[in-house]
Amino acid sequence: MAMTQRITKAVIPAAGLGTRFLPATKAMPKEMLPVVDKPAIQYVVEEAVRAGLTDVLMVTGRNKNALENHFDRVAELEATLEAKGDTVKLEKVNESTDLADMHYVRQGDPRGLGHAVLRAHMHVGDEPFAVLLGDDIIDERDVLLTRMLDEQVARDACIVALLEVDPDSIHLYGAAEVEETDDPDVVRVTGLVEKPAKEVAPSNYAVIGRYVLKPEIFEVLERTEPGKGGEIQLTDALMEMAGDVEHTGGVYGVVFRGRRYDTGDKLDYIKAVIQLAADRDDLGPELRPWLAQFAAGFDQD
Ligand code: UTP
Repeated sequence: MAMTQRITKAVIPAAGLGTRFLPATKAMPKEMLPVVDKPAIQYVVEEAVRAGLTDVLMVTGRNKNALENHFDRVAELEATLEAKGDTVKLEKVNESTDLADMHYVRQGDPRGLGHAVLRAHMHVGDEPFAVLLGDDIIDERDVLLTRMLDEQVARDACIVALLEVDPDSIHLYGAAEVEETDDPDVVRVTGLVEKPAKEVAPSNYAVIGRYVLKPEIFEVLERTEPGKGGEIQLTDALMEMAGDVEHTGGVYGVVFRGRRYDTGDKLDYIKAVIQLAADRDDLGPELRPWLAQFAAGFDQD
């Protein structure tokens, strides 16, 4: 059942160094890498807006101009397309301009995801808010964020998104220790470990890049010491919230069983581009048979 929507703010951290994509990310944030024909960040802003989060705060680092420009007007391009009467392309240019009420805050040094979220404190104030990472694209045909927003309102807790992954990949994620609830799609998170070895992972529930957080997280982040990788980890702050149910309402996980495309590392990025392109009406009909033929070529090797 849909609850009254009262969360309107989305925070999108995009200040990471993107070292796994060098040299592409030398002069451009990794969130601007195109996934088919749109930068990854645009899919994420569109998802936020679809869920009713029209106030978007982007946390930017070096090379922030590309991000800001993408969501701003480009007068010369618009004028040229207008003069040519190319309304189809003009619409594409304007798609990202009028999407949301965009705000920007700077994270001087990329000291970790927790630190990036802390930079949102002033803008967010004292209300629950969502955090969406540009690395993860959630298929628009599958529901996740609206469900998380509903659970936040219903449970007055922090909500994370969980995906069951192969135990061999759990070391790439934050892993959650969980207890069942009476809802098969929702678990209570009793512990979290950032990037655990397979042998010590509490489960194969991986935390993926969507969160709905209570403003109390800011106080916790203020005193969170650098953790894994010397970075201030959001996972560590959430771990503290999960351990103090009485004061924080605890942490719950919404189990996502839909389609998620990981664009954070090279191989997964390539797979994401292929999957999304193969599904599109304009590209799929030509791409799918080509892919089948291409793959058949490998069988013969
Ligand atoms: P990642 O750890 O995946 O991003 O952070 P990264 O550090 O840019 O990537 P690599 O490992 O060097 O290739 C997850 C998300 O958190 C943001 C990133 O932009 C990404 O969206 N982030 C991370 C920040 O905004 N600030 C930080 O200090 C760290």
